[in-house]
Amino acid sequence: MTDKPENTTHFGFETVPEGEKAGRVQGVFSSVASKYDIMNDVMSVGIHRVWKDAMMDWLAPRPGQRLLDVAGGTGDISFRFLKRAGHGHSTVLDITESMLVEGRKRAEAERMSDSLDWVVGDAMALPFESNTFDVYTISFGIRNVTRPQEALNEAYRVLKPGGRLMVLEFSQLPNPMMQAAYDAYSFNVIPQMGQLIAGDRDSYQYLVESIRNFPDQDTFLDMVRKAGFGNAKYRNLSLGIAALHSGWKL
Ligand SMILES: C[S@@+](CC[C@H](N)C(=O)[O-])C[C@H]1O[C@@H](n2cnc3c(N)ncnc32)[C@H](O)[C@@H]1O
Repeated sequence: MTDKPENTTHFGFETVPEGEKAGRVQGVFSSVASKYDIMNDVMSVGIHRVWKDAMMDWLAPRPGQRLLDVAGGTGDISFRFLKRAGHGHSTVLDITESMLVEGRKRAEAERMSDSLDWVVGDAMALPFESNTFDVYTISFGIRNVTRPQEALNEAYRVLKPGGRLMVLEFSQLPNPMMQAAYDAYSFNVIPQMGQLIAGDRDSYQYLVESIRNFPDQDTFLDMVRKAGFGNAKYRNLSLGIAALHSGWKL
């Protein structure tokens, strides 16, 4: 009798057994956790802030809402959400504990600890009851998940009826010349910056490779619909360098 071959997936441009990916992703984010926030500002020249604000504009948080911020890392999305909502609660879930540790420090510094919970877990198997949250966000997280469709299915399960999904992720530029210019920047500059600022070239090489492997806007929109979301739409940010996908549990 032969063993069933294990399914494979991408880890950047490498093909790896599915069972290995989460551990390797954790390795990347454990390594960058203490420099994560500063690197985001440097690599994107601050533009990630504009994209996250655009996410909040479309999401329009309301007082009292309960957010689940998956792959929430150091809590960037949750802090923005809670400030816009006025009051509410966010559960930040992430597979890498050291990212959450950085987030907790930020929450203490900003005196927001009472509005936040920090949970170690996997987007593909959320440790929450069905129909629990008003809003589910995942920002620059879903391309790291081994099987993104399973994460979207889980998002649908844990949202209350009437709840909202919003995904912020790197995406594809519609014009091949622009894509080539953007690739030249990302493949040549970002790993070097990672080396210079965080002393870690490989993690940032993974980052740029993982961006190139992620499905384009329309393919991802189909995945959102397949998970069950209604009124699903997307908006490009910076011409498609990133995109927001929105859907509702109707
Ligand atoms: C690029 S960071 C994004 C952090 C934050 N959401 C932001 O926008 O700044 C990606 C995060 O996804 C987390 N992650 C990767 N795979 C995950 C999974 N399967 N389940 C939960 N979190 C995951 C990583 O640990 C990391 O903290």
